[in-house]
Amino acid sequence: MEIIIRETAASATGIAARIIAKLLRDKPAAVLGLATGSTPLPLYRTLIEMNLDWSQVTTFNLDEYIGLPREHPQTYHSFMWENLFQHINISKDRVHIPDGNAADIPASCADYEARIREVGGIDLQVLGIGTDGHLGFNEPTSSLASRTRIKTLTRQTRVDNARFFGSESEVPHHVITMGIGTIMEARTNLLLAFGENKARAIAEAVEGPITSINPASVLQMHPAVKVCLDEPAASELKRADYYRWVYDNKPAWQTF
Ligand code: PGA
Repeated sequence: MEIIIRETAASATGIAARIIAKLLRDKPAAVLGLATGSTPLPLYRTLIEMNLDWSQVTTFNLDEYIGLPREHPQTYHSFMWENLFQHINISKDRVHIPDGNAADIPASCADYEARIREVGGIDLQVLGIGTDGHLGFNEPTSSLASRTRIKTLTRQTRVDNARFFGSESEVPHHVITMGIGTIMEARTNLLLAFGENKARAIAEAVEGPITSINPASVLQMHPAVKVCLDEPAASELKRADYYRWVYDNKPAWQTF
């Protein structure tokens, strides 16, 4: 794991944006895995400002609520079009978001996995982390080998996400999420976390044991993970000084 700690979320976001921009320049037909929530919002704003060529890019989103009408403002479909896709030259038929209104959810999940395979797999997956260590909506105790499927949200996640809905009771209980096994097959994983409320989850994921109680800890088994943090999110890392030194002394060819 490469742990990148910056003073501010804006600075950490800038590094994440440069990593994605480089991928899109090196591989114009890249396959990106995308995330929603507050964390990637500044990343998407930065990518829009960079005016990159998305015409050949394919995207797969991590997750979606089940049962909300597609045009509901809190679906991840709405989120992605509002905050990224409508501002870039992406082709609509290359955008993939799990269908929270599918009549046959298991079949649509299997189809999602098949589409990822068909395009050759995900080159880079953007990830946030829940305060409980979830990735996508893979809640604690999710199988570390899981694939795209239905999940039931924990109380904690529904409380965390109530801020987008107005009240906890409006947050759906059920979601579709890529599995941990799906995420682990991305060639690179780029995890972003900002703010003190993520500090515990990040410390457990990076320095704790690998356990499904903190699903993000499985990333320790992935060969290419970059973790972009601001200082508050890094505040419980025991080896933060080492990570800072590593970043400040990277060989020139390795910098972003
Ligand atoms: P957030 O959510 O970016 O809104 O904090 C992250 C997550 O739940 O994965």
